[in-house]
Amino acid sequence: PSAPYLRVTPSMLKKMTGRKGKDAWTAMGGKVYNITPYLPFHPGGEAELLRGAGRESTKLFGEVHPWVNYENMLASCLIGILVSEREAEE
Ligand code: HEM
Repeated sequence: PSAPYLRVTPSMLKKMTGRKGKDAWTAMGGKVYNITPYLPFHPGGEAELLRGAGRESTKLFGEVHPWVNYENMLASCLIGILVSEREAEE
């Protein structure tokens, strides 16, 4: 991963759905990942992975495969941390 990390708000995250020419971002455990490069490699397929795009997906991820170590797998996709709209203004 390369610093500096972005401070990503829920409203920014919401736009990053992987559709309309935008990258796919997801937030897990307070960290924001650009999952676009991983899409073709996801064993569950692109459509399943995109269910987690543009949103906080820790719970969804844990419901499907709690044994998968996403922090290791997505280390190079880490782009920022999730902050509240209010924190972003400070
Ligand atoms: C497998 C869904 C995110 C890594 C799967 C499978 C599903 C799924 C349904 C089962 C495929 C099968 O056995 O036929 C989702 C959903 C996600 C998500 C809804 C939304 C957050 C991720 C992420 C990673 C990941 C972020 C890793 C960075 C994997 C791996 C497998 C897998 C390694 C194979 C697990 C195994 O067979 O033990 N996923 N996935 N997934 N996914 Fe995801």
